[in-house]
Amino acid sequence: MGEIILVGSGWNSFLFRAEINSLVSYDKIIHPRLVTISSDSNINILSKAALLDDILFKAEIIDDCNISEKDISLLIHKWAVNNLPRGSFAIRTRKIGEEIVPLSSSSIERGAGELIVSRYNNVDLETPEHEIVVILAGLDGQVFHKNESDTLKTVVIWGLRRKISNKNEFERRNPIERPFFKPVSLDARLARLMISLSHKPGWCPKIIIDPFCGTGGIAIEAIIQGIDILASDLDPIMVEGTQKNLVWSKGKGKYTVKKCSIDNIVELWGGHEDCAFVFDPPYGRNSWKSDNGLDIFLKALKAARSINPNGTICTMLPTIPEFMLEEKSSNYLVMGKKWEEIEALINSTGWIISLKYAIKVHRSLARLILVCHPSH
Ligand SMILES: C[S@@+](CC[C@H](N)C(=O)[O-])C[C@H]1O[C@@H](n2cnc3c(N)ncnc32)[C@H](O)[C@@H]1O
Repeated sequence: MGEIILVGSGWNSFLFRAEINSLVSYDKIIHPRLVTISSDSNINILSKAALLDDILFKAEIIDDCNISEKDISLLIHKWAVNNLPRGSFAIRTRKIGEEIVPLSSSSIERGAGELIVSRYNNVDLETPEHEIVVILAGLDGQVFHKNESDTLKTVVIWGLRRKISNKNEFERRNPIERPFFKPVSLDARLARLMISLSHKPGWCPKIIIDPFCGTGGIAIEAIIQGIDILASDLDPIMVEGTQKNLVWSKGKGKYTVKKCSIDNIVELWGGHEDCAFVFDPPYGRNSWKSDNGLDIFLKALKAARSINPNGTICTMLPTIPEFMLEEKSSNYLVMGKKWEEIEALINSTGWIISLKYAIKVHRSLARLILVCHPSH
């Protein structure tokens, strides 16, 4: 019958898998950037994903790394007899993984194409009705965050490409393209990823609350996917700027943007079931070390708990790149404090951490992505 395989973008395979797990949850990892899902019932949700490159249906998996181009072509042909619908087709081969698989993409495309072509299936490389995608996935040993799932293996897969609706055009929404830009502006892909991580399989927030909206990086990505946003910021210039950026984004979701300190956020928004909190709290190069930043962060967690006790949080804290070595994480500094202390403080506000993962910003700064769920 074949599998449904999701192909992750090369940016970060751990976060790709975490994102898929939040949106639909996956079945098996067959390579750090390839996971299977068991049903296509929630497939539309995947158009939200920031780190998903491709969806392949009726896919076949070969993990024999000594296979030749000729054997692959023969197997693709055998598979196509039962799985390729009538109509024009193209074969697209992609190589992924850190180690390049020493197989020729063009030989596979030519070899399989010649075998498949028939009066029912003609080749059309420009606008084919069907695309057979072949992935040659080389070894991928992530340097950071090595864990059991990041196994080293070479696999060859192929399947029928399902077009991803609204394939995200993050380039077009690059912060510097927006009418209102500041250096704090969150990158579109990262903002989109944070929103995805605030989902749970079977639960999509209808509203996102960002109490530190800045230039609206998170707000834009929410309304573009039709999720309503309640955004606020202490700084009136940011409030005005977010409004401008939201008009520019032409998103479908509804939005309200207010000037408000985190101190008054509960009074401002009241209770909201079905909302998730997604934010990056204030931290400057110097200020992130101060207790003030931590205070503000903890206030946001408490407010989130009272606005929706059943909600979720996705946030990001400044840390140092050494945090990326997971096994030593308890010793590292996050917002100027030892991680253990920060974790205890988060727990004291009624949240538990369900995911933590550091990404590098530059040589001396990393950001720690956190996903929190209610502790009871
Ligand atoms: C890191 S920036 C957020 C950037 C935003 N995600 C973006 O894409 O532009 C943090 C924001 O928090 C705001 N802020 C600082 N202290 C605050 C407070 N006590 N209450 C509410 N907002 C505050 C700042 O004005 C700043 O815009």
